[in-house]
Formats: sequence, C-alpha cells, structure tokens
Amino acid sequence: MKFFVDTADIDAIRELHELGMVDGVTTNPSLILKSGRDILEVTKEICDLVEGPVSGQVVATEADDMIAEGRKLAQIADNIAVKVPLTWDGLKACKTLSGEGNMVNVTLCFSVNQALLAAKAGATFISPFIGRLDDINLDGMELIGDIRNVYDNYGYETQILAASIRSVNHIADSARIGADVITAPPNVIKAMVKHPLTDKGLEAFLSDWAKTGQKIL
Ligand code: G3P
Repeated sequence: MKFFVDTADIDAIRELHELGMVDGVTTNPSLILKSGRDILEVTKEICDLVEGPVSGQVVATEADDMIAEGRKLAQIADNIAVKVPLTWDGLKACKTLSGEGNMVNVTLCFSVNQALLAAKAGATFISPFIGRLDDINLDGMELIGDIRNVYDNYGYETQILAASIRSVNHIADSARIGADVITAPPNVIKAMVKHPLTDKGLEAFLSDWAKTGQKIL
C-alpha cells in the first residue's frame, strides 16, 4: 500500500520521507492556506523532495479554466497529479488533462457512482473522503469497499486513494479492504507506531537491563 502525506508542510514531509514513508503528497486549498505559502513555490519544493505523485488542486469551477490551471500546475514538475473536484466540469477537465498525459486525482468523491464516472473519465486516482462521510453518520469505509468491488468487477485501473483519514484505524481498515493508497496527515501516520504494550514491554526490558550493570557501548 502506498502512503501519501496530506500536507503542504515541508518539514513534516521531509521527516517522513527520510524514513521511506512518503510515496507521494496531496495538497488542497485548505492545506495551502494552513501552510501560509505560495501554491506554486511550495508545490515545487515538495516535488523536488518527493519522487512520487504530488497532487496540486485547481480552484476554477469551469472546465476550460480548470484545464488552464491544471496545465500550469503540471508545468511545475513531471510528478504533479492535477487534482480536480468531482463535478461535471471536473470530469471534463479530467478527461482532457489525462488525455494530455497528466496524472489526475479526482477529489471530493462521496459515492460509487461518482467513482465510476471518474474512472471512465481517465482518472489516475479517485479520492473518496472517509472522515467527512463518518462526520454525517454515514460509513466512509463502506464506500472504500464498494469502490474496490466495482473497480475490480470491471478492471478499472484508477487507483483508490483513501482520503480524509482522521485515525490510525482508517489506515488499517483501508489496507484490509485493499485501497491502493492512503493519504493522511503526518500526525496520523506517526501515530501508527504507538502501542501501549510496546511502551510497557520496553520499560520492563530497560529496567531489567539496568539491573545487569552491563553496557553494550
Ligand atoms: O485529502 C483530503 C483531506 O485533506 C480532507 O481531509 O480531514 O479535511 O476531511 P479532512
């Protein structure tokens, strides 16, 4: 399973990248706002650091303008994935931009039907938002499973990029279901290491080691 980091925070990306945890990066207008950086500058910096796909999102709502923005974003680096929203205009932009050889990430997906349309429009990635479905008492993980089944039924190659991940359980469940990629905030990825029995076990080992009076170095 591929790990994308859902942030425009360069230091956080660098820390995870040094451990081999970063197969790609996703950004969106809210994350650009949070970074306080210029979109073109920060996206270029991320692309220089990370070899895998880096999603940069268009903000226009009409297809022609989305396509123009997508082409500009795609000029930043070869590993840009242009992110477009799951609207009819977004699908038109997806079709054109993917036809020109760009990776396209179709975002704000909340249904199997939307995921089907994105696959048919040539999306490289489909981004179903798990957390935001859970927020309204629907089941985000069920959507990931449904899209997996439907894509497998017909052999669509669009990769399922589980997004809006809020907890480590979302990541484990996405892996069980067979999502191709997860994108999660850095703190959620780092939280995957935590287990109380690991902490307890290490404490006991260190306590016993101190009693031996030995040193390794
Ligand atoms: O990748 C999409 C993600 O950034 C949305 O997450 O937590 O704002 O729903 P969230």
